[in-house]
Amino acid sequence: MSVEQLQSSPEWGDGAANMGHVLQPGLDISHKVILYLEDISVSFDGFKALNKLSLAIDAGELRCIIGPNGAGKTTMMDVITGKTRPDAGTCFFGQTLDLTRMTEPEIAHAGIGRKFQKPTIFERHTVFENLELAMKTDKRARVSLFARLDDAGRDKIADTLKLIRLGAEAERQAGLLSHGQKQWLEIGMLLMQEPQLLLLDEPVAGMTDDETERTGELFKSLAGKHSLVVVEHDMAFIEQLGGQVTVLHEGAVLAEGDLAMVQADPRVIEVYLGR
Ligand SMILES: Nc1ncnc2c1ncn2[C@@H]1O[C@H](COP(=O)(O)OP(=O)(O)OP(=O)(O)O)[C@@H](O)[C@H]1O
Ligand SMILES: [Mg+2]
Repeated sequence: MSVEQLQSSPEWGDGAANMGHVLQPGLDISHKVILYLEDISVSFDGFKALNKLSLAIDAGELRCIIGPNGAGKTTMMDVITGKTRPDAGTCFFGQTLDLTRMTEPEIAHAGIGRKFQKPTIFERHTVFENLELAMKTDKRARVSLFARLDDAGRDKIADTLKLIRLGAEAERQAGLLSHGQKQWLEIGMLLMQEPQLLLLDEPVAGMTDDETERTGELFKSLAGKHSLVVVEHDMAFIEQLGGQVTVLHEGAVLAEGDLAMVQADPRVIEVYLGR
């Protein structure tokens, strides 16, 4: 089966925009900031899902975003990935890429990978083949799954398998993996594209405690080389990650700091933690 056929199959689903990119070497992070949002507003039928949201993420940072249901966390990711156009505001990737003027595939291509809540893996293919496909979905190259992999490609897949702890499952059909393993496989598929920025929306939802802890270790190992923005409700997981925490409420930043600091903030307790 060709990559094109796979991409047009229903199994491909929502993640298609994730896959068609390779790392662009030219991202300008000379000011340390990899992602910069200023006064972003998004309205749905007059309701302000984002209301002058401003946020800056440093290169290599692992940032957690928390906040009550409907605070605008997913909408923020939709704006960053080009799925939703803001009514107002600026959104830059590095110093020079204006994300509000780029299409979803262009943004993915520029080095922003997004993990959706529902894994978009190929259930009937092996774990290894899933990673191979993720590497080969550069749409400019007409490649089939059965074209020969070069040594560099094999090494890259082996490294990724190790990182996502699926080395022993490489030849297993992806559909037979546990929920947590499927999530890791999808993260592995994103990593095959070498994104500079990873957006992860509720990545540990539905995972066992053990899987959640392993996911935390994985994210911490990715920080530095990649920048990560993680939306979660699981406070133990956020504590494990240990990064700066941004609290969203009604489409804007309510508080920002380390977890202990935002947990002690009376406004945060009132709208979120005290529920
Ligand atoms: N396409 C849309 N059309 C209309 N309203 C929308 C749309 N997308 C989001 N909203 C609304 O915008 C608000 C913010 O939603 P969003 O999904 O960003 O919240 P969230 O912080 O991700 O919440 P949760 O923690 O429940 O995932 C909600 O009130 C939601 O109903
Ligand atoms: Mg959400």
